Amino acid sequence: MKLGVVLFTCWFLSGCDGGKFQNSATQNLSRADKLHYEQYMIQGQQLYATHCSNCHQPDGTGLGQLIPPLSQSDYMLESLSRTLCIIKYGLNEEVVVNGKAYDQPMPANERLTNIEIAQITTYIYNSWEHEQGYIPVKKVAQEISKCQ
Ligand code: HEC
Repeated sequence: MKLGVVLFTCWFLSGCDGGKFQNSATQNLSRADKLHYEQYMIQGQQLYATHCSNCHQPDGTGLGQLIPPLSQSDYMLESLSRTLCIIKYGLNEEVVVNGKAYDQPMPANERLTNIEIAQITTYIYNSWEHEQGYIPVKKVAQEISKCQ
């Protein structure tokens, strides 16, 4: 309901072309995809707050030696497919992010649906330092089916 109001307001006031989450990577999306993208960002922010921010922090900077950052992460930018598999199935091996090693385990989120993962991933790839654009659920479903 709340989302409906937000989306309607967004559509009504600005046509969403100047929506609040737009960036260089979303300029050329169709009008429909711009709307999907805005919706993913709103839902993604809430899902991030529920499932991720305890560890990675609301500002994505991580926690000392224990939790790697997302706000600036060369590791995250190297591979979207890998990030999708980590969100769904967790990770338990050493990773090097921006030159620093981390080796605490990250738990799986097997109950998150593909659409929820698409929303979270769109959110983290278009927040803080990132402008990677809309990540549709179709792509997420394809990539997740290939996780090992
Ligand atoms: C219990 C704490 C915890 C939670 C909750 C958590 N993570 Fe992680 N995350 C970690 C740790 C620890 C690592 C490093 C894992 C390793 O070294 O095996 C990590 C690694 C990552 C990485 C790859 C490294 C990087 O910094 O780029 C990404 C991307 C990531 N997490 C995203 C998420 C997202 C999105 C969520 C929410 C769905 C989430 N994490 C929830 C602790 C957590």
